[in-house]
This record gives sequence, structure tokens and C-alpha cells, in this order.
Amino acid sequence: MIDQLYRKAVLTVAERKPVENLVRARGWGLAQRFVAGENIPSALKAVKELQAEGILGNLDLLGEFIESPEQCNQFAQNVLDLLDAAHAEGIIPYVSIKLSSVGQGKTVGGEDLGLTNARRIVGKARGYGGFVCLDMEDHPRVDQTLAQFRQLTGEFGGQHVGTVLQSYLYRTEADRDSLGDLRPNLRIVKGAYLEPETVAFMDKADVDAAYRRLVYAHLGAGSYTNVATHDESIIHDVKHFVLAHGISKDAFEFQMLYGIRRDLQKSLAQEGYRVRAYIPYGRDWYAYFSRRIAETPRNAMFVVRGMLKG
Ligand code: FDA
Repeated sequence: MIDQLYRKAVLTVAERKPVENLVRARGWGLAQRFVAGENIPSALKAVKELQAEGILGNLDLLGEFIESPEQCNQFAQNVLDLLDAAHAEGIIPYVSIKLSSVGQGKTVGGEDLGLTNARRIVGKARGYGGFVCLDMEDHPRVDQTLAQFRQLTGEFGGQHVGTVLQSYLYRTEADRDSLGDLRPNLRIVKGAYLEPETVAFMDKADVDAAYRRLVYAHLGAGSYTNVATHDESIIHDVKHFVLAHGISKDAFEFQMLYGIRRDLQKSLAQEGYRVRAYIPYGRDWYAYFSRRIAETPRNAMFVVRGMLKG
């Protein structure tokens, strides 16, 4: 409950225009801890630096205010350009996209534009042996995202597309069961949006318990599992679970956000676990940056100290 109140307070303040203007003007230096840069070369540079430490990358082009179909198509084109650039640099592309950024919910030519654009992106990624993860957004989008994931898996195969389930939603364990026939590649997260108690657990203990159940069920089913958390106690328990059940290190990976718990990312990679960092980049970094601050007061202190210094 306290977590929810803190998150709500930060996100409410962050939405205020004067706060945004101040942070945009003075905060880029601070945001660089969480955002790899504003363009493709800086994003690919971050991937290579992490690779040198044995950590894989998952690139995410940030986008805000993508409203019109033209803007959605342009955003999709920017992701396609990223795939080309990664391939040209010898990197097997692994990207995440938000279907809302590429047109989900807008019908163009008799089809949902999000699906049309995701098809272009997954098709190109497959051509390069790459992978596209469909990020999960707020709860009204879950049904359509899962339906589009099913559709894309049917068209391109489960090796090239995955999606995300959020343990804070009551519905999520049933959603995982309903996808079982696909043996899907799923990223399990706790959930980052402000959701009402009609749809989501409010207590962290419930969210954490559901998180463990989801990861264990997915690993137990033999489906590829992306354990996306910085929660050391969960990571510890997952390590024990896989050992106890004879699950190979190839059957799952740990995922964390760029710039967060870099020490833990490195030590897991050194222990021989597959580790992937989610690397956001792009000019629209403000909303992403605000969500990271909303996750923990430690990050808010980091920003306040930095702004006072600056
Ligand atoms: P929790 O919030 O319980 O934190 C556990 C511990 O981790 C904290 O005590 C702290 O030490 C550390 N920690 C967590 N966040 C930190 C931060 N920002 N800075 C510093 N330390 C921090 N959400 C979503 O709704 N849809 C999505 O598609 C995704 N995708 C996604 C991909 C990847 C790779 C990750 C890691 C996360 C997401 N998320 C997401 C975000 C996710 O839902 C969640 O908000 C964050 O991961 C924070 O939750 P934790 O699981 O880390 O645990």
C-alpha cells in the first residue's frame, strides 16, 4: 500500500509541466544512468559494452505522444531501422516494443494497425535471427496484446516473438494457463502501471507471491522464462528452484533494467546465468525516467542530489 502511495505521488508530480520542463532541461545527465542515449549508435554502443561483460541486450526505442497512424508508422519504421543497424553491426537484434506505439487500437485497412506494424517488425527480426518482445502495458490492453501475441506466434513461430505477464494483475495466472498450448517465451514482471484494486493486488507481498507462482509454473511447464526482476530474494529462490528441479540454465534468463543493479547483473553473468539488460534509448526518455524514479525512493534521492549539484 505504501509502495502504491509513493508511486502515485511521484507519477502525479512528474506529470506536472513545470516539473517536466525542469527535469528535461537539467536531468539528461542523470537520466543517462537509465537510458542508453538518444540515438541508434549510442544504443548499439551500450549493447556492445554490456556484451563485453557477458550481458545480453534488449533494445527499447522510447516513444511518447504517438497518436496518429502516420506517427505510429514512423515509429515502426524507426524500429525497423534499428533492426537493420544492429544486424549491420553484427548484433543479433533483440528488441521490445509497446503495441500502443505502433498503432494498437487504431483500425487501418480493416486491421488493427498495431498488429500490422508488429508483423513488419517481427518479420524483419526473424530474417536476422532476432527476437521481438511485446511489452505489456496497462490492464485495458492485456486482452488485445495477448490475442495479437497469439496471432504473431502462429505466423512467425515462438522462436521470434514473446510477450510479458504482470504478477500484480489478478487475471495473470489464468492468462498464463490460457497460453500454455503455445509454449510461449514469456517475460514475467511485477507490473509498472498504476492499476486500481479492482484488477490488481495492492499489497507487495501478494504481488511477490504471485510472481514466484508464475515463474515456477512457467519453468515447470518447460517453457522459456524471462525472470525480469531486481528482487534478490526472488532471484535467490529461482536459482534454488531450477537446481531442485534439474532445469537447465538454457531454459531461462534473468532480465533487469539498464543501469539498475549493475552489480547483480554482472555477478549473475559471472555465475554462468544468462542475463539480459533492457536498454531504453531515444529522445522521449522523460516518462520512462519518471517510472524508474517512482519505483523506489532511492532513485528519487539520486535525482534530487544530482539536481542540487547541477
Ligand atoms: P521490486 O519493485 O519489488 O524491487 C525489488 C528490489 O529491486 C528493490 O528493493 C530495489 O532494491 C531494486 N529495484 C527495483 N526497482 C529499482 C529501481 N528502479 N532502481 C533501483 N533499484 C530498484 N513492467 C510492465 O508493466 N510491463 C513491461 O513490459 C515491463 N517490462 C520490464 C522488463 C524488464 C527487463 C524489467 C526488469 C522490468 C520490466 N517491467 C515491466 C517493470 C516491472 O514491472 C517492475 O516495475 C520493475 O521491474 C520493478 O520491480 P522488481 O521486480 O524489480 O521488484
